[in-house]
Amino acid sequence: MTGRLVLIGMMGAGKTTVGRAVAERLGWRYLDSDEQVQETTGLTVPAIFVEQGEAAFRAEEARALAEALSSEGSMVVSVAGGAVLDPGNRLLLSEAGTVVWLRAPVTTLSARVGAGAGRPLLGDDPATALARLYDQRRPLYEELADIVVDVEDLTPEEVVEEILRQLP
Ligand code: S3P
Repeated sequence: MTGRLVLIGMMGAGKTTVGRAVAERLGWRYLDSDEQVQETTGLTVPAIFVEQGEAAFRAEEARALAEALSSEGSMVVSVAGGAVLDPGNRLLLSEAGTVVWLRAPVTTLSARVGAGAGRPLLGDDPATALARLYDQRRPLYEELADIVVDVEDLTPEEVVEEILRQLP
């Protein structure tokens, strides 16, 4: 059987940490859309934003996601926070397997991302930027999610357990 588990949610929700851990537990491959973009372009995410702009990043992101989701075998895919903005990505995600939204209130996300290092969209006022981005994206996460895990009071290990418990 081929299994697909896709993690969505805002920056700071823990997609990478939890994604790696859940993949290890299941013995599945782990893919991360940001990592894929960085591998293909040879640039870091902040460098792509600075040198080529957000639109170029989003195009790479869409390509990376399509490639990841079309590869063979069971896998866990962590999807960068903004990928859900693109309707084509949303279609791919809705057909990809079990989609898990790691949900957290904006205050928690804000505390976790701190000064926003390495996160070009947050600028010099990360809390305000996060709140604005979250308002825009929350309905999209909601629409896509098969499973919602409230991560606020959970350790990454507990989030992994909760995902495994709820997997169909
Ligand atoms: C972004 C999230 C980041 C990264 C980029 C843009 C976003 O990934 O792709 O900084 O628009 O929310 P993570 O969600 O993995 O932090």
